Amino acid sequence: MQITLTQPDDWHLHLRDDAMLRAVAGSTARHFSRALIMPNLVPPVVTGNDARSYRARIVKAVEEALPGSNFTPLMTLYLTESTDAGDVVQAAADGTILAVKLYPAGATTNSASGVTDIDRVMPVLEAMAQHDIVLCVHGEVTDSGVDIFDREARFIETVLEPLRRNLPELRIVLEHVTTREGASYVADSTKNLAASLTPHHLMINRNHLLAGGIRPHYYCLPIAKREEHRQALVNAATSGDPGFFLGTDSAPHTRATKESSCGCAGVFNAANTMVCLASVFEEAGALDKLEAFVSLNGPQWYGLEPNRSTMTLRKETNETPLPDVITVGDDRVIPFDPARPVYWNVVDPDFS
Ligand code: DOR
Ligand code: ZN
Repeated sequence: MQITLTQPDDWHLHLRDDAMLRAVAGSTARHFSRALIMPNLVPPVVTGNDARSYRARIVKAVEEALPGSNFTPLMTLYLTESTDAGDVVQAAADGTILAVKLYPAGATTNSASGVTDIDRVMPVLEAMAQHDIVLCVHGEVTDSGVDIFDREARFIETVLEPLRRNLPELRIVLEHVTTREGASYVADSTKNLAASLTPHHLMINRNHLLAGGIRPHYYCLPIAKREEHRQALVNAATSGDPGFFLGTDSAPHTRATKESSCGCAGVFNAANTMVCLASVFEEAGALDKLEAFVSLNGPQWYGLEPNRSTMTLRKETNETPLPDVITVGDDRVIPFDPARPVYWNVVDPDFS
């Protein structure tokens, strides 16, 4: 069996910088035509100038890793309490950025410069609403009194819903949704709200992470939830609802920082996202909805044309091996293991 799709895009990607950027850039460019690049570097990508210079570093790294690929990075800014609304509006108007990212301070990797109180960034959000600039949200509260498994649902109730009531014209992506509550909140909304979904949250639940031993390479934020939530996410992804699209949240960390007494959050899935998704959609009897999820819904939300290039995936009789471990200096990055056999392969484009 073989399927051909419009070439996919990744609407949520961490590429990092320097040696890590050079090591992982090819994994995304091999399959995806465009990716929305997360700004949580150290220090973060805050201004239009930061985004322009980061973009140039990415383009160079991709050209070195995979000469001749058609990859285009789409940039975001990291929203801080001192972000200048005028700079955001200018960066969107001149095409430097496509969106702005809100990290609640302390919610995840490199989020220390994020927002402690949404009221403090209201002037920027108002300007974004006025100029139709998308806000991408890491949707978890950071209150240490709230259980880690409840942080997404609590964010929706206490931050997102009030924000949407206050500023209904602001277009928001609830990123990497991990709960039934999140999926139904987005499915039920009628306007200006969409969600990205990761391949790992479609494939693993919290038992994969915690039962029979802690598996640090499955640790990410928001954390994987119960099986019933995973099933709700698969239903959302395979529904064809244009409000749901792929954002891999591929987030490389070195093995040493993952396999540690205080391991970093992040799953590196760029290289096998597409074969994993073909498997998930086939299992759900929804291969005909895969193209909408990976290639059509995202561009439509962001007001862009779908890619003209295509991707062909083929189902093989032999199990697809896991992607190669990537070397970074004298450490490595371990790719996502989907915890079940996958039989799909990408046969085109094949830049490898
Ligand atoms: O697991 C995660 N890793 N979640 C995030 O929100 C950030 C990411 C990272 O940058 O490593
Ligand atoms: Zn992320």
